Amino acid sequence: MKKVDPIRAGLRKLPIRPVYLISMQHEGKNNIITIGMFAFFSGNPTLVGIGVKPSRFSYEMIRKSREFVVNVVDGKLMYAVRVCGESSGRNLDKFKQANLTPIEGTKVKAPLVEESPLNIECKVVKEVETGDHNWFIGEVQMVHASQDYDWNQGLLFKWIGESGVFFEVGEQKGKY
Ligand SMILES: Cc1cc2nc3c(=O)[nH]c(=O)nc-3n(C[C@H](O)[C@H](O)[C@H](O)COP(=O)(O)O)c2cc1C
Repeated sequence: MKKVDPIRAGLRKLPIRPVYLISMQHEGKNNIITIGMFAFFSGNPTLVGIGVKPSRFSYEMIRKSREFVVNVVDGKLMYAVRVCGESSGRNLDKFKQANLTPIEGTKVKAPLVEESPLNIECKVVKEVETGDHNWFIGEVQMVHASQDYDWNQGLLFKWIGESGVFFEVGEQKGKY
């Protein structure tokens, strides 16, 4: 039997999904934000999007610099995901606080997170106003991948009731 669920509560029952660290730079200052709202928008051109609330410090930085880097995270980066998702770059150097190392990108000024196994350099081609988050659509410029990395790792996130819970990618169940 099913019954009507309040919309927010219903959506929180969506399956677990990845989280990402998004890094940026504006006027010489670096910042990082934890993001769950990430999506592929196009294969050719290669476009990915991130949903950022305009109240975030990161929002203005990305809007003005028109660049961002998507950094994939695994369980080893969970502390960093928490720091970057629970504090603002307005009054904190999150690279320092989260023990992360900024390294230079090749096509963008935004720094890559060295500790992340996969960094995706993007230039903003469009900003889409939706509701309480705006979507920055970025064209992928360059991808950096760690060699000899176990790609079965990965950090996932799920809302359960009012709290969020982090998981690691688990056992393979099927094949496509
Ligand atoms: C697991 C997780 C997922 C998040 N996803 C998003 C998101 O998709 N968009 C967003 O704007 N904020 C998201 N946040 C909240 C921001 O990371 C948080 O408000 C952060 O402190 C903003 O930092 P800033 O002020 O330096 O930009 C998320 C936080 C967590 C912990």
